[in-house]
Amino acid sequence: MVDDLARDGGSVEGGTVGGTAASGGAYGGSIVELMTIDVARDPKPTYQALRDAGRARRTVGMFGSAVIASGRQAVDEIFRYPEVYSSAAHAGRLGNVRPLIPIEYDPPEQRKYRKLINPIFTPQAIERWEEPVRKLVHDLIDGFAGAEEIDFSRQFSIPLPSQIFLTLLGLPLDDLPTFLRLKDGIVRPSVLLDLPVNHPDVAALKTRTAQEIYAYYDKVLDEREREPRDDLLSHLLSTEVDGETLTREELLDICFLFLTAGLDTVSASLDTFMAYLAENPERRAEVVADPGNIDNVVEELLRWESPVMLVSRVAMADTDLVGCPVHRGDEIYVYIGSANLDEEELADAGEVRFDRTANRHIAFGGGVHRCLGSHLARMELRVALREWHARIPHYRIRPGTRLDFTPGVRSIGSFPMLLGKGDD
Ligand code: HEM
Repeated sequence: MVDDLARDGGSVEGGTVGGTAASGGAYGGSIVELMTIDVARDPKPTYQALRDAGRARRTVGMFGSAVIASGRQAVDEIFRYPEVYSSAAHAGRLGNVRPLIPIEYDPPEQRKYRKLINPIFTPQAIERWEEPVRKLVHDLIDGFAGAEEIDFSRQFSIPLPSQIFLTLLGLPLDDLPTFLRLKDGIVRPSVLLDLPVNHPDVAALKTRTAQEIYAYYDKVLDEREREPRDDLLSHLLSTEVDGETLTREELLDICFLFLTAGLDTVSASLDTFMAYLAENPERRAEVVADPGNIDNVVEELLRWESPVMLVSRVAMADTDLVGCPVHRGDEIYVYIGSANLDEEELADAGEVRFDRTANRHIAFGGGVHRCLGSHLARMELRVALREWHARIPHYRIRPGTRLDFTPGVRSIGSFPMLLGKGDD
C-alpha cells in the first residue's frame, strides 16, 4: 500500500518535521504532531487519545483543513463511499507522471483495473510462490547462521520482500541494490538526502527516480514481450478481460505501484511483529510451540500492530462523518491503526489474543481499495514467521536500543537483535 501521508511520514523519520506532543497520548490538534517517530514507536496511547477526543474530528492537515477518522464506524463509512472520499483527487505525489493503478483511481476505472489484476493475486495464484519464498527465508537465515547479533532490518526484513518481488517478476537477485535504491528514492527521498520534505532537491530526486523506475520496467517488459516466461510480468502482459489487455503505460503504472506498495509494508509488518515478540517472550513461546496456529498469529499481529497506520482521502462533497462536519476538499486521515483497536467494535480490542476465532481487522484497508496484495503479504508473513521460529526460537532486542519506527508505514531502519537464549 502507499499513502501520501505515509510517504511524507517517511521523511518525518529523518527528523525533518518536529513535534512529539502526541507521544504520551495527548493530542494538540495538528496532523504533524502525529507524524513522529515517538508516536510510530508506540501509537496506542495516541490512538486512544484520538478516539477519546471524538472518533471523527477536524484537524489541521499537511495541506490545509482536514478530518481525522479514528473510530471503526467512521473508517468503515469512508471506505464504503469512495465517490465521497476520493483516492484519485491527490494523485501524482510520488514523482509519477500518470496516476498509479489502481490506487490513484476512483471507481468505475479503479474497479476495471482490479478486475484485470486480481486474478494474478488470488490465494490459488499465490500458492505456487510459497516454496520459493520459503527458500529465500532460509537463504537469508543461512547468511547469518551462528551469529550472536544481527541487524534484523538490514539482514532480513528489508531484503526479504524485495527478493521475493524480484523472484515474482523473474528478475535477477543481483538487481536488489538497484531495486532498493529506486524504492527509497520514491518512498523516503528526504531521508536519503537528509533534507526537509518540502526541499526542492527532494522533489527533484523523486522525479528523477520515477523516470528511472519507468525506464527499468520498460526494458523488462520489452524483454518479456519478446520472450514470455512464467512470471508476474508475463502474466500481466497477457491478462485479458472482455477482450481488453493493458496498454504499456497502464502496465508501467501498475508496476510502479507494486514497488511502493508491496515492499515497505511487508518489512514494516516483520519489524513490528518481531519487535513485539522479542519484547513478549511468553507470546513468542506460543508461536514456537504451535506453528499450526501461525495464520491466527499473523492476523492478530496485523490488527494489533497495524503496520500501515493510516491512509488518506480527499472529500468530494460537504457531508457529515459520524457527527463531524466534512467540507469538500478536506484531506481525510483514515487511522486504520486506531480503528483496529476501537473497543466500540471489539470489546477486548486492547488484548493480544492468538485464539480469536473472528478477526475483522482492517490492516489491509477496506472497500474498493482493499489491499490487492493481501494474500501474497499473508503468505510471506506466515512463511517467514514459521520458518524463523523453527530455527531461531530465542532472540532479543539489543539491550539499551530504542527502535526508530517510520511514521505512516512503521518500518525500522536499523533493528539490532541478539540471537540465542539470553535471559528468557
Ligand atoms: C502486510 C503487508 C501489507 C499491508 C499492511 C498493506 C496494506 C494496504 C492498505 C492499507 C491498502 C489500502 C490503501 C488505501 O485504501 O488507500 C493497500 C492497498 C494496496 N496494496 Fe497493500 N499492503 C501490504 C502488502 C502488499 C503487497 C505485498 C502488495 C503487492 C502487490 C500490495 C499491493 C497493494 C495495492 C496494489 C494496493 C492498491 C489497491 C487498490 O487501490 O485497489 N500490498 N495495502
